[in-house]
Amino acid sequence: MGFDLEINEKGNLSIGGADANQLAEEYGTPLYVIDEMRIRDNYRRVYKAFSKHYSDFQIFYACKANTNLAVMRILEEEGSGIDAVSPGEIYTSLLAGFDPQRVLYTGNNVKDEEMEFAIESRVRLNVDSVSQLKRLAKIVDPEEFKISFRVNPMVGAGHHEHCITGGEMSKFGIMEKEAVEVYKMAQDMGFKPVGIHTHIGSGILDPEPFMLAVDTLMDIAGLIAQNTGVEFEFIDFGGGLGIPYTPDEQILDIEKFATEITGRFKEKLVHYGLGKPTMCIEPGRYIVGDASYLLTRVNSVKQSYRKFVGVDAGFNTLLRPSMYGSYHHIVAANKPQEEPVEEIDIAGNVCESGDLFARDRPMPELEEGDLIAIMNAGAYAFSMASQYNSRPRPAEVLVNNGESDLIRERESFADVLNKQVLPARLLKK
Ligand code: LLP
Repeated sequence: MGFDLEINEKGNLSIGGADANQLAEEYGTPLYVIDEMRIRDNYRRVYKAFSKHYSDFQIFYACKANTNLAVMRILEEEGSGIDAVSPGEIYTSLLAGFDPQRVLYTGNNVKDEEMEFAIESRVRLNVDSVSQLKRLAKIVDPEEFKISFRVNPMVGAGHHEHCITGGEMSKFGIMEKEAVEVYKMAQDMGFKPVGIHTHIGSGILDPEPFMLAVDTLMDIAGLIAQNTGVEFEFIDFGGGLGIPYTPDEQILDIEKFATEITGRFKEKLVHYGLGKPTMCIEPGRYIVGDASYLLTRVNSVKQSYRKFVGVDAGFNTLLRPSMYGSYHHIVAANKPQEEPVEEIDIAGNVCESGDLFARDRPMPELEEGDLIAIMNAGAYAFSMASQYNSRPRPAEVLVNNGESDLIRERESFADVLNKQVLPARLLKK
């Protein structure tokens, strides 16, 4: 087990054929480096695994994982649709060239203005609650307006309790027991429900909960069809496909996973006479998670009660370790083949004790000036970055076949102050 690292002839870490150290020199640190081919390969692997069993298959990339326009363009070129959670994500998707009908807007606690924006943008609306449905009916003429519902199938899973989105503690979707009633209500209002959706959680490496969710959602869809006559144009099982973050975590066997899921899906279609709807899934992390590295420079080594190796990024740059206690594998980019010699803490530069990328991590001897690469930093990394401590957010670079392009400039102090307005009475006289 372990991660396959690309090492170049200089003995440095290479990302998509580009030397990590040279990238850090050229663009500065902290720096997100995204490997274009890794994204394309990940997308194609999933698409192929599912579509060979069921040809009417569509991926809606969950762009909350990474909304960089270049990443979105790559996925549009690959034929993906988009799972959008906010007007901002809709806006970005359209700018990236996605056909609005390939954008599914699944919001939570959506306000009327946001629905209006979605309707004007002509994207598809996935309704999360009866409240949203009733308000939608006042905004749009329901006749012939196609909608779908997110259903909570009472199955949930995820790498952290914050990332479990099914089950009775979850704020998402309509309850499975009210599903038939809600579809009927929508029809009575004049709507045309054509889809059903669920998303049970994120960062799941065990196929079992997915299988259960597929079975349950299909049973719910069957019940709805029998009781309301709804003809489903699409059935969407959401995202959640995990990736290994630690060297000993197993990868998800996507072939087996897709075979089993499509098998159950097809069985249930026949069983309930549901015809041939489009089968959809919404992976985010699986597509972009392992495609990016965060490069950060060691700027201080402190022997305190423990040994702290301090770097020039923090939880403002990559939040996952502080927020979920997530493990991210870390390698020394200028000496990736050196064996670990000691266990140290790798600390960020934010003024909070929780700002640590790793505790007791076996590493080779690290010195000031060394470059480290934090792996699997493609999903929920830049997209969750902030300007906390008034630190500008980092740059992003896309690499392909040894070439690099800057795809997001490093922010400046002025960017951090952007939109602040000082009342005249507080101006310094
Ligand atoms: N579809 C819906 C409706 C979602 O809410 C999500 C993720 C996805 C798809 C994609 O899930 P994925 O395939 O990426 O697991 N910030 C957390 C993850 C939060 C996920 C939220 N929803 C993290 O860093 O682990």
